[in-house]
Amino acid sequence: MKLCMIGTGYVGLVSGVCFSDLGNTVYCVDKDINKIESLNNGNIPIYEPGLEEILKKNYKQKRLFFTNDLKKAVLKSEIIFICVGTPTKKNSNSADLKFVFNVVKELKKIIKTYKIIVTKSTVPVTTGDKIENILARLKKNKLVDVVSNPEFLREGEAIRDFIYPDRVVVGTNSKKANKILQSLYLPIIKKKNKYFNTSRRGAELIKYASNAFLATKISYINELANLCEKTGVDIKDISVGIGSDQRIGERFLRAGPAYGGSCFPKDTRALSDTAKKFKSNLSIVDTVIKSNENRKKLLIKKIDKILKGKIKNKVITFLGVTFKPNTDDMREASSIPMIKYLNKKKCTIKYYDPSGEKNEFKRLQNVKYHSTINSACSNSDLIIIHTEWNDFKLINFKKIVKKNSFIIYDMRNIYSPTKMKRLNIKYFGIGR
Ligand code: UDX
Repeated sequence: MKLCMIGTGYVGLVSGVCFSDLGNTVYCVDKDINKIESLNNGNIPIYEPGLEEILKKNYKQKRLFFTNDLKKAVLKSEIIFICVGTPTKKNSNSADLKFVFNVVKELKKIIKTYKIIVTKSTVPVTTGDKIENILARLKKNKLVDVVSNPEFLREGEAIRDFIYPDRVVVGTNSKKANKILQSLYLPIIKKKNKYFNTSRRGAELIKYASNAFLATKISYINELANLCEKTGVDIKDISVGIGSDQRIGERFLRAGPAYGGSCFPKDTRALSDTAKKFKSNLSIVDTVIKSNENRKKLLIKKIDKILKGKIKNKVITFLGVTFKPNTDDMREASSIPMIKYLNKKKCTIKYYDPSGEKNEFKRLQNVKYHSTINSACSNSDLIIIHTEWNDFKLINFKKIVKKNSFIIYDMRNIYSPTKMKRLNIKYFGIGR
């Protein structure tokens, strides 16, 4: 099939590359001239394991194209995927849909023959209706079907998530569009019945409901971790104990810092906003948002407590600063408020992240990126394991810190407290 992906951000690029690998011809379009030029030169703007190889293979085989020419790409394609960003609006919780609607207005001018327009961007329920209103004339002449097909890819695992999805959700009442999308997804859904056709509004809401549910699961285990710290119970045991009940499920029950990233914070806010617009009570989601905000402050307070309020002149190391491993993404990473707070307290902060130095910290005095774990940890008073990169799982701290006494604050519970005690290392985890 011939596909057009509008927007070469995370969703558009990964989906476009993966669709081309399934044998489709894919035109990836972006307004950003530099980005397209750089993609055409083989440079990938995001850090996603496995993406580069698949991209280069399909580019060489001329199944994958990068262009600024929206019109040409749309005219050549049967299915148009809208994959532009839907960030939170300034001073509000609503999703900003201006990029989506701008694209739709362009499409209105271009489309002359039947096309399926698919929103892959995360859009609030009823956005598809608004898109259809803009395209009313085309719809009346049966030249478009507007479909919702939300994306559930996780950063760092996106290729695997695309090839082995838990489900593919397609929201449309059009039999024609549904049949075409089903055949597009056939190579990845044929093994099991993973294709779920629902209403367009249903598909739009499923995306937000999924993300908000996962954020709730994380906030729940994080709050239980607080209780564990007070009662001397290990949160890891709680996760296993409750997660092995299949009704609950073991995933997304790892306690840690406040959740971050490009989706959970933004989508919980937007869902809460939608509920308010429809005068519907979603107090659980509101509470999760608050709980996650509080968690940022709580962990900062804990660092204070670990250092007994004596932060000034201390050397503090952060191992990992991204919101999760296998990504270079810093959006809503909880390391940002932590490092900013500590920086104000006049200590020296050294950090190492396998994805490299971060712009967020470049202008902060006394916050320095180190290119190795050893150099970041040497002579440190406190080592904070903020992100659970594999690189941090087997560190011989005694050997590399080269100090008689230092503290480890393991925010991802990677290490065993008993082992640390045996090594005579002062160790703090989360909820244990
Ligand atoms: C998420 C959804 O999983 C994905 O389906 C959606 O399309 C986009 O948003 P992503 O943001 O890439 O994906 O990351 P995810 O792996 O879901 O983690 C999000 C945050 O939750 C991270 O900060 C992570 O550290 C945290 N998390 C996750 C936990 O704290 N504990 C867990 O058990 C799982």
